[in-house]
Amino acid sequence: MVVLGIETSCDETAAAVIRRTAEGQGEILAERVLSQDDDHAPFGGVVPEIAARAHVAHLDRLISEAMQRSGLTFGDLDGIAATAGPGLIGGLLVGLTTGRAIAQVHDLPILPINHLEGHALTARLTDGIAFPYLLLLVSGGHTQLLIIEDVGRYVRLGTTIDDALGEAFDKTAKLLGLGYPGGPQVERRAREGDPTRFAFPRPMLGREGCDFSFSGLKTAVRRAVQAAMPVTEQDIADICASFQAAITDCIVDRLRGAMRLFQQRYPDAAAPNVVVAGGVAANSSLRQAMLDEAAKAGFGVSIPPLRLCTDNAVMIAWAGAERLARGLTDTGTLTARPRWPLDPHAAPAIGAGVKA
Ligand code: KG4
Ligand code: ZN
Repeated sequence: MVVLGIETSCDETAAAVIRRTAEGQGEILAERVLSQDDDHAPFGGVVPEIAARAHVAHLDRLISEAMQRSGLTFGDLDGIAATAGPGLIGGLLVGLTTGRAIAQVHDLPILPINHLEGHALTARLTDGIAFPYLLLLVSGGHTQLLIIEDVGRYVRLGTTIDDALGEAFDKTAKLLGLGYPGGPQVERRAREGDPTRFAFPRPMLGREGCDFSFSGLKTAVRRAVQAAMPVTEQDIADICASFQAAITDCIVDRLRGAMRLFQQRYPDAAAPNVVVAGGVAANSSLRQAMLDEAAKAGFGVSIPPLRLCTDNAVMIAWAGAERLARGLTDTGTLTARPRWPLDPHAAPAIGAGVKA
C-alpha cells in the first residue's frame, strides 16, 4: 500500500509518500515539510490568511519533490490522503482540493483525514505500537488525552477548556519578549531559572476527569511580569522555570488520571503504552516527568521522533494507509471541516475552539 499524504491544516505545508506492508509495517519513502514560522513570527502567532496563501504558493512544488524523491509516479500510488480538519479553513481547502484533483486525474481513492488521527497513529509507524494505547497530544493547537482503541475508534478522556499547551508556552514567551515559537525559548531560559521562585497556579490539579486549563496560569504569568518590571535576565529565567514547573505538574496529574481510566477500561492490557505527540513533546522537562509517572503506573512511553511529533504529512499518509488496509475509506467527511473531534461522542469543550 503506497500513499501520498498532504498536510496544510495550520502553518506547515507538507507532502510525503509512505508504504505500509500487509503485516502493518511502515516505511517512509519521501517527506517534505516547509515551516511558515518566519512568515508568522512578526505577528507572534499564526495568521490564517498568510498561512493559506503560503500553502497555495508551495504545496505543488513540495508534492513534486516528494514524488521525485520517492522514485515513484502517481500511477504507483494506492491512494491520496489529505488533511480535511480540524484546522484553518483556507489551508484545509488548499490541501484537500489539490489532493482531490490528483486523485481524480489518476483514478485513485481520496482519503480526507482527520489531522488528530494522523498524530494518533504515528507511533504505530515508528514503534509498531499495538492497540489499545493512551495518547497525550500536546501541540500549539491541541491538548488532549485519548484512548486509541483501533483505527477510527477513539475515546477522548480530556481536552483543554481554553488554551492549548503550546499556546500557553507561546504566550508566556511573548509576554517576556522571547520571540515565536516560544516553547523552545521558554525551555532554554528555564534551565538557568529557579522553578520555586514564583508560586504559579496549577489549574485543574486534583480535579476529577482529564480536562486541562491554562488560561489562569497565563494571567498569573502576566501579573508576575508586570510586578517585576523592568524584568532582568534572572527574572525571565525564573518565570520560565516556574511556569514550566507548573505546567509539568498539571500534565503529570492529568496523565495519572488518564492511566487510571485506561486501566479500568482495559484491566487485562499487558504492558500498555502512553504515546506522546505534538510539538510540546520536545520539552525535556515534560518528557522526563511523563516517563517517570508512566513508569510508576507500569506504562511504557513512546515518543515519535520530533519531526514526526510536529505537523507533517507522513502521519497523514500513514493514517490513509491504515484506513485503506482495513477498507475504512469513508472517513466521515468529503469536505474541509474546521472543527472535527476525533471522538464524536465527547461533549464539546466550551472555549476550546478548533482544539476540541
Ligand atoms: O505540533 P506543533 O509543531 O504544531 C502546531 O500545533 O502548530 O506544535 C508547535 C507548538 C508551539 O506552540 C511551540 O511553542 C511548542 O509546540 N513547542 C514547545 C517546545 N518546542 C515546540 N513547547 C515547549 N517546549 C519545547 N521545547
Ligand atoms: Zn498537529
